[in-house]
Amino acid sequence: MSRLIITESGPLKGKVRVSGAKNSVLPIIAASLLVDGRCTIDEIPYLNDVRIMCDLVKSLGASVEIFEDQTKLQINCRSLSTNTAPYELVNKMRASFLVAGPLLAKTGAACISLPGGCAIGTRPVDLHLKGFVALGATITQGHGYIEVKKNGRLKGGKVYLDFPSVGATENIMMAAVLADGTTTIENAAIEPEIVDLATYLTTMGADIKGAGTDTIKISGARELKAADHAIIPDRIEAGTYMVAAAITGGDVTIENVVTDHLKPVTAKLREAGIEVSEELTSIRVRGGNLKAVDIKTHPYPGFPTDMQSQMTSLMSIACGTSMVIETIFENRFMHVCELKRMGANIKIEGRSAIIEGCSKLTGAQVKATDLRSGAALILAGLVAEGTTEITDIDHIDRGYSRVDDKLRSLGANIIRTEE
Ligand code: EPZ
Repeated sequence: MSRLIITESGPLKGKVRVSGAKNSVLPIIAASLLVDGRCTIDEIPYLNDVRIMCDLVKSLGASVEIFEDQTKLQINCRSLSTNTAPYELVNKMRASFLVAGPLLAKTGAACISLPGGCAIGTRPVDLHLKGFVALGATITQGHGYIEVKKNGRLKGGKVYLDFPSVGATENIMMAAVLADGTTTIENAAIEPEIVDLATYLTTMGADIKGAGTDTIKISGARELKAADHAIIPDRIEAGTYMVAAAITGGDVTIENVVTDHLKPVTAKLREAGIEVSEELTSIRVRGGNLKAVDIKTHPYPGFPTDMQSQMTSLMSIACGTSMVIETIFENRFMHVCELKRMGANIKIEGRSAIIEGCSKLTGAQVKATDLRSGAALILAGLVAEGTTEITDIDHIDRGYSRVDDKLRSLGANIIRTEE
């Protein structure tokens, strides 16, 4: 298992370019199943999750080529050979369930291994299934698999999401684009990744109105055609580097960002005394007198749950007491026990973390339990006295492209050891 070894790094300085969004490229690769023909997708991030999704669509019969230093891929789903997504692949990545909608729309059925829960929560798929049923599909479950099927074309319908689930919105949208008639998704998720997926589907010839609002209307098409697309920048990777600049008191320009997507993070960092200046496609963050602020996660455009762990690390060294409330996932404080081993003073009460900012963290051996907790530990390691050794960094490589190279280019003392 490889590890990251980090020693106290002083203020980070320089420029770092953000890669394409993990949470956009995964549904977009899945959406390519909807068309016969070659789709070219640019701005692909160099991530383990991208490789898993490519392996999954290849197991369904698609051909996938990745080139140009892994930043561009071509995918052709003309000759799908099966609509069963196997346990050994789905078990590696929950987002695999996003092939259900496109397979159902394209082939009339999908048989997907039930995605397990993960470190951060049970993560059910009931809202995805509610949408498929609204489109006329039948659901059967057995032996750890869920089968959704419809004889003939899906029929447009109306579905209200009890929670604005990102994945359910994406899966239902991908099923509805080939349905007969109009589908309305109410209380839909409005994250930027939803809009990016809708843009890709529209380029294929889909008729989608309202993506980015809580009501999306889709008029089904007879068929869609192959399309090309460039993935939007990863707002969570960008936010993570913003916090890296803040926690080290540095001066970092993060390039290739959509500043609008970062509004909640920018606002919160400014509230915490950090200087943030926005340019058209970049954002400059300069450390300041860090003060404690309260954080409550919400669906977009609220403060993103995927930035909660990183902010918990930042608040661990801020002057004062802060309260972090995690409203999206039931178990997203796995980083806290690791941060406490580094001297952080944090008390968990249900979905709240009460943080007494301390002057100094100390390096320790810690382990990444999930993607964003791993990022939180890297951030803490940058400012902790001494050396921090992080194991289980596969979690981190799922969602951060070349994180050690990028941080080292900003002056961080970080190395990756292969064992
Ligand atoms: C997406 O997960 C992201 N992943 C997550 O990013 C992100 O944290 C999450 O959206 C929220 O923004 C990808 O896009 C690949 P949800 P998703 O469905 O779609 C409940 C990261 O670190 N729910 O919006 O799985 C669920 O239990 C990852 O990059 C149901 O109850 O999130 C959770 O409490 C982590 N029933 C809440 O909704 C359902 O059918 C949010 O889940 C679906 C979800």
